[in-house]
Amino acid sequence: MAYDGQSNAAICMEGGKCLDGTVLIQGSKNAALPVLAASVLIPDTCVFKNVPYITDIDCMKNLLKSTGAVLEEHKEAHMIRIHSENIREYRLPARYVSAMRSSVVLMGALLGRLGEALVDYPGGCVIGERPIDLHLFGLEKLGAQIWTDKNRIHAYADELKGALIKFPFPSVGATQNTILAAVTARGTTVIKNAAREPEVTALCDFLNKAGADIEIGHDFIATGRIVIHGVDISRLHGVEYTVIPDRIVAGTYMFAVLCAGGNITLENAPAAQLRSVCALIRKMGADVVLDDENDRILVSTDTKQIIQNVPFVETGVYPEFPTDLQSPLLASACVSKGTLILKERIFSSRFKVVEELVRMGADITALDNERVQVRGVAKLAGRTVIAQELRGGAALVIAGLAADGITTVTDTRYIKRGYQDIVGDLERLGARISYVD
Ligand code: UD1
Repeated sequence: MAYDGQSNAAICMEGGKCLDGTVLIQGSKNAALPVLAASVLIPDTCVFKNVPYITDIDCMKNLLKSTGAVLEEHKEAHMIRIHSENIREYRLPARYVSAMRSSVVLMGALLGRLGEALVDYPGGCVIGERPIDLHLFGLEKLGAQIWTDKNRIHAYADELKGALIKFPFPSVGATQNTILAAVTARGTTVIKNAAREPEVTALCDFLNKAGADIEIGHDFIATGRIVIHGVDISRLHGVEYTVIPDRIVAGTYMFAVLCAGGNITLENAPAAQLRSVCALIRKMGADVVLDDENDRILVSTDTKQIIQNVPFVETGVYPEFPTDLQSPLLASACVSKGTLILKERIFSSRFKVVEELVRMGADITALDNERVQVRGVAKLAGRTVIAQELRGGAALVIAGLAADGITTVTDTRYIKRGYQDIVGDLERLGARISYVD
C-alpha cells in the first residue's frame, strides 16, 4: 500500500534481508518548519522547494493559512508557494498548535509582522518536559509583553527593540523564535549561546536571502553568537528557497544498515552535518565514505556480525551526537556485539521505545532516568509493537529489519510526522516491508 499521508496503517516487515542500493534523502522537517513559519514575516511571495511530504508540514500549512497566508502546493515537485501579503490573524487555532510543538516559532514571526501573537501551549511528541520559558525569555528581552494562563500565551509589542540575549541553554526553538522576532526589531540584537544546529543556520540563510541582516560567523560553532541588525519590514521580499536535506532521516538509514547489514548510498545527504554520527558508525565497524562534494554518504558492512557496540555514547547539542538519533542507535545497539551505555542529556523522557525493544527480545536495563545499558543479542524476535513517538517509532522499524519473523509497528501516524516514506525507502533498499491495514 502506498503512503497517503493520512492513514494510520501499520508497517509490517520480515527481518533478515540485507539492505542494498541507493536512497534519496528527503528535505529536513526541522529546517522546513521554521522557514515556512518565517514566511509570515515577509509581506510578499516565497517559494519553498524540497519540502518534505509529512504530517508536521501539513500542520504548519494549516497554521499559515489560519494567519491569512495563501498557499499553492505542488506536491509532486515538493514545492509550496506562500503568499503572505495579507497576514492579519494573530490568534492560532488550538487544534494545530496542540498537535505540534514547533508551531510555537510562529510567535516570533507574528510578533515581528503584527506585533501580537496568541497561542495555546504547544504539543508534540511525548519525550519529556518541554517547557517554553527560553522562548518567552528571548521575546521578552526584545520588548514583548507576555501574559500566560494555564492554556494560553499572549504576546504583544508596540515595538520590538534589539537587545543582548544570553541563553542559559542553547535551545533550538527558542533561538529560532528570537531570531524571527529580532529581524524587524529596532536596532541590533546579539544572541549569545545560541543553538548551533544546522537548522538555525538554515533559517538565518533564508532570512538573509529575503532581505534580513543577520551575521553568523564562520566560527559560529565555537562562539554560538548571532548578530541581527533589525531592518524595516518593507526591506523584506519574497525569495525562492530550497530546504536542506534531513540529517536525522539520513542517520536513521545509516543505523538501519547496522541493524540489517548491507551496502547503501544516501543521495542528497548532508555529509558535513553528520560527522559525529559517521565517526560512531565507523567505530562500530561499518565502512563510511563521506562524499561532501556530491552530498553523498556510502555505508557498508560486509557482514553485520562484525558490528560492535562502543562502551559509551551520550547525546548533546550540535555538533555532538543528536538526541533525535538516540533511538535509532539504540535499535542497532540491541543487535551489535558487546555492551553500550547510552546517556540522554537533552530530553528527560526519551526512552519510551525501550519497553517495545525489550518485547522484541532486546537486553536493555535502565541504570537511572538518563542512562540505559544495552547488551547486544544475536537476533531480535518479530512482534507487534507500538510507536509512541516519532524517532522511537522509526527505531522500531529498523529493529524489525534485524528480527526473526514478522514485526508489525502500529500507530505509525507518529512516524509520518517526520518520515516521508520510510517504507518505500527501505523497500527500494531491498527490505521486505509494506503498509498493512
Ligand atoms: C528541536 C527539534 C527536535 C530536536 C531538538 C534538540 C524541531 C522542530 N525540533 O526541538 O527534533 O530533538 O531540537 O536538537 O526543530 N527547553 C527548555 N525551555 C525552553 C526550550 C527548551 O527547558 O524554552 C529544553 C527542552 O525541554 C529540552 C531542551 O531544552 O530538554 C532542548 O530543547 P530545544 O533545543 O528547544 O528543542 P526543540 O526546539 O523543542
